[in-house]
Amino acid sequence: MPPDARRWRRFTSVFADTVEAAGYECIIPPMFEEIGVFQRLGDATDVVTKEMYDFIDKGDRHLALRPEHTASVCRAFAEHRPIVPWKVWYSGSNFRYEKAQAGRYRQFDQVGVEVLGVDDALLDVEVIVLGWEFFQRVGLRDLTLMVNSLGDAGDRDRYVSALRDYFNQHRDALSEEAQVTLERNPLRVLDSKRDADRNIINNAPTIASFLSDDAAAHFTQVCQGLTSLDVPFVVNERLVRGLDYYRRTTFEYVSGALSSAQNAVGGGGRYDGLVEDLGGPATPGIGFALGVDRSLLACDAEGVFAEGAGIIDAFIIDVVDGQTALSLTTSLRHAGFVVDRGFDGRSMKSQMKAADRAGSRCAVIIGGDEHAAGTCTVRDLTTSEQITIQQSELANHLATVVGSRTPRRPSS
Ligand code: HAM
Repeated sequence: MPPDARRWRRFTSVFADTVEAAGYECIIPPMFEEIGVFQRLGDATDVVTKEMYDFIDKGDRHLALRPEHTASVCRAFAEHRPIVPWKVWYSGSNFRYEKAQAGRYRQFDQVGVEVLGVDDALLDVEVIVLGWEFFQRVGLRDLTLMVNSLGDAGDRDRYVSALRDYFNQHRDALSEEAQVTLERNPLRVLDSKRDADRNIINNAPTIASFLSDDAAAHFTQVCQGLTSLDVPFVVNERLVRGLDYYRRTTFEYVSGALSSAQNAVGGGGRYDGLVEDLGGPATPGIGFALGVDRSLLACDAEGVFAEGAGIIDAFIIDVVDGQTALSLTTSLRHAGFVVDRGFDGRSMKSQMKAADRAGSRCAVIIGGDEHAAGTCTVRDLTTSEQITIQQSELANHLATVVGSRTPRRPSS
């Protein structure tokens, strides 16, 4: 609803500005795909096994509403094979059948970027810093950037197996929930926030000692790049992400202003291998997605990125027949002004109220005298100053009150 939706749009538009300035192009993936596309996210993740909104369509196809964008972007890449490097950004809704609560919804929006076809650790730095700087632009200050490496496929497998052994040794002391998670995905046990599990998790083996030389060197370069740009970060060896496709670099932006269960305002990482899984050529990939709903909750908590006032330059009040309002709104809008008007031949009093409610800077009044003389009376609603001028002078006069605007005439 307005005015929240206005703030929402501005959030997306600041994001678009930030990433387009870095060469990212907009992509609009479909809202649903063959379920197989999302099953590639891994059968050890809740997003796939428990939370998908799937259905059979009238053509007997098994489809699912997208739970995230990355798989769709990789599917599009595998299908259309654009020239690499391919740098895209997106914004849109996702659907996960989660236990809804503050900051965790079944329909939520993300903005994000994906880059396909580049192996370079300096790209990881670019991507991580883009997200960081976007949040700085929005005004979030109580934010921690956490980074980790999950190593290459082999490293990750060896680590998972060591974790499974370790947790199995302490199985009886783990919470019931963690024991169930252990069966499916030992990595996810590291995510448990339950007190019973904390001690055991704190002493669990960390990924660092399982990294291949290549993966370790890649991670060192990422950390050095962040340091060279003075971007503060914390290496968190327990940072495992909810989706299974990650390799090497993973990261999360965590808000200190939100409660710890839902404090990740965004996250991402490398997913070398996902495009291949989706039938494309071996292609490295990296990206992130930021939760719009949750980021705005963090903004509320920090008192930043207010929705701001809507701007109306002029409200046209025509109490004669509405025709002058029709031509004036059209020409002023072409001249770039933000203009609204009254309808239904309402009284002067009622239209003045509407102008006030709209928060307009000026009211432009066409009464009987003005109509006959081709003039209009312009009242500045902040100062209450009033002047009668020729209608042909209106655009110039408005420019002196609200500043000139960029014309948006329709092309001829
Ligand atoms: P994700 O961590 O599942 O990653 O989601 C990214 C962000 O979306 C989260 O940090 C959170 O802010 C928001 N989010 C996730 N689930 C919900 C929910 N149920 N309600 C509200 N907000 C939510 C991904 O989706 C990956 N595709 C990110 C990525 C892009 N990795 C590589 N490229």
